[in-house]
Amino acid sequence: MQLTTLLSIAFAALQSAPSPTMKAARLHEFGVPNVVKVEDVPRPEPKEGEVLVRVHASAVNPIDWKVAQGLVRSLGKSLPYTLGCDVSGVVEEVGAKVVGWKTGDEVFAYSNLMRGGAFAEYVVLPAAELATKPKTVDHAHAAAIPLAGLTAWQALFDTAKLEAGQTVLVHAGAGGVGHFAVQFAKVKGAKVIATASKDKLAFVKELGADVVIDYQAQAFEELVKDVDVVFDMIGGETQAKSYGVLKKGGFLVSIVGAPPKAELDARGLRGAGILLKPDAAELKTLAELVDAGKVRPHVSATFPLAEAAKALALSKEGHAVGKIAIEVVPAKRK
Ligand SMILES: NC(=O)c1ccc[n+]([C@@H]2O[C@H](COP(=O)([O-])OP(=O)(O)OC[C@H]3O[C@@H](n4cnc5c(N)ncnc54)[C@H](OP(=O)(O)O)[C@@H]3O)[C@@H](O)[C@H]2O)c1
Repeated sequence: MQLTTLLSIAFAALQSAPSPTMKAARLHEFGVPNVVKVEDVPRPEPKEGEVLVRVHASAVNPIDWKVAQGLVRSLGKSLPYTLGCDVSGVVEEVGAKVVGWKTGDEVFAYSNLMRGGAFAEYVVLPAAELATKPKTVDHAHAAAIPLAGLTAWQALFDTAKLEAGQTVLVHAGAGGVGHFAVQFAKVKGAKVIATASKDKLAFVKELGADVVIDYQAQAFEELVKDVDVVFDMIGGETQAKSYGVLKKGGFLVSIVGAPPKAELDARGLRGAGILLKPDAAELKTLAELVDAGKVRPHVSATFPLAEAAKALALSKEGHAVGKIAIEVVPAKRK
């Protein structure tokens, strides 16, 4: 074989070989969101039962900037740490004994807090935690779903057991979790009362809320009574004032702090605080609802991976409408 042919074969092999490194948004110290550095790091490899996913998009959750401020340290996780819990992407490689997934499959997933890793070009996930990405939305909108969507689903249905015909008060109906909660409760056939600030009331109505309350101008505790379920994403005074709007036997589910048992018992109420869990079967249900046009993930801002710190800072302001996405692979613009 001629030298030029050999050289061109070697060159082609080099070009097709996967790069051993990737870009990732990592923490080396804790502090404000701009401690996040986007840098070259070794590309992870899937072990037995795991899948390597090429991340096309992720989404920001308040937990990300809370982690950047040191939450993971308090949970015993060491640095450097790659942020990010929401993944939408394409299977790049499967580890040994993986059944059901192959290279090229479009998937989405919740990567739990201790693992993180989604603000990166590749992430390794347990095969059992993946679900097929909804087909009718792009990766940025699919990535908006896992953490916030699973939280809303598990709070309303797995925990509070909301049923058709019941009434639920959703605090913060315009935010990441809230905008899913409003839509899920409507799909279930419940009556939905939701709070939001003035500018976001129209958005929450569009999502399907039957009654909207401007929490800055109106006292929800004077307007609402005898609801079956309160979904609390605010805590503090908002949680304390929520006991009075529940009917006897009603359920207060919180994702920011369990309501004290003594408070519940004194009023004949039930309640719980929850931390979401990965659940591929539930993700599949959420994808089906999206593809059936019954639920619409809303993305109000999108940042490239290189601007992860800006995306975190925006989330930290606490006024998100729906979700903030991170596009790792830029979507094709038409
Ligand atoms: N336990 C868990 O598993 C779990 C899971 C997910 C999230 N969380 C936590 O739940 C909280 C919400 O998460 P998220 O992703 O929905 O946050 P987000 O996307 O940042 O949304 C926050 C929303 O809260 C609204 N808001 C602020 N103060 C309010 C008040 N007093 N009454 C009503 N609405 C108010 C904001 O709207 P305005 O601009 O209109 O004020 C904003 O739309 C965060 O603390 C997060 O860490 C916990």
